Amino acid sequence: MSDRLSEPLAELLDHLNGIGYEELYLPGAGVPDPHARGPAGTPATDAADSEERAVALGELATEASECAACRLSEGRKQVVFGSGNPDADLMLVGEGPGAEEDRRGLPFVGPAGELLTKILRAIDLERDEVYIANVVKCRPPSNRDPERDEIAACRGYLERQIELVRPRVIVALGRVAAQALFGTTEALGRLRGRWHTVRGVPARATYHPAALLRYSKYKRPTWEDMQEVRDRLRGGE
Ligand code: URA
Repeated sequence: MSDRLSEPLAELLDHLNGIGYEELYLPGAGVPDPHARGPAGTPATDAADSEERAVALGELATEASECAACRLSEGRKQVVFGSGNPDADLMLVGEGPGAEEDRRGLPFVGPAGELLTKILRAIDLERDEVYIANVVKCRPPSNRDPERDEIAACRGYLERQIELVRPRVIVALGRVAAQALFGTTEALGRLRGRWHTVRGVPARATYHPAALLRYSKYKRPTWEDMQEVRDRLRGGE
C-alpha cells in the first residue's frame, strides 16, 4: 500500500480524527480477520461493523459540508455536523450551532457546551464517550430558533446519524430538539419526565444547558432527567 493517501481519503481521515476516531483499518493494510475473536471475546465482525459505520458517518459529514438544502447554508461559516464517539451508547441532540460552534465546526463548544461537559461528568461520562449533534447543522442567524422547513431539510442527516451511531439512549436538549425529535408541538415541561422512542431508540428530553445558565431552577429537574438516563444506560436494557 502506498504511503501517500489520496486527497479524499486524507480528508475523511482528518474528519474522523476530528470527531474523536483514532484508528481505522484500511482494506489490505492489516484488516482484522473477520472470523477471529476480538480481544474481549467479541466477534471481530462487531469491530468491523462499527468501523464501517464510522466511515459512513465520515462520508455523511463530507456530504453535509456542501449542503445547500436550506437558507441556513447562506449565513454559516461551516457546517457543524456532530462530534464524539461514532459508537456511543448515549447521543445528545441540541438545537443548532451558535457563534462559537459555527467558528470551530464542533457542537456545544461555547458556554452551554462547557456546562454540558459538567452535566455528563455528573453521570460519569466524558464528552468523547458520547456522540453530540444538533437538529440543524448550520447556525441560524442571530441564534434564532431554526424554522420548521430548516429542521425538515436537515432531518435526513440526523436520522442517518442515529442509524449509524446506534445509541442505546438519546437525550434531546431543550424544547426545539425535543419537539423535532418526537414530532410534536407539546411543551418541554410535558415532554420531559417520561421515555419516548426515536427510530426505535429510547429517548428522553431535558432542559437545554443554555437555559440552565440563565435559570438555576432548571438544574434539579435536569439532574433528575440525567439520573434516569444514567440508570437506563447502566441497566443494560
Ligand atoms: N446550542 C445548541 O443547541 N447546540 C450547540 O451546538 C450549541 C449551543
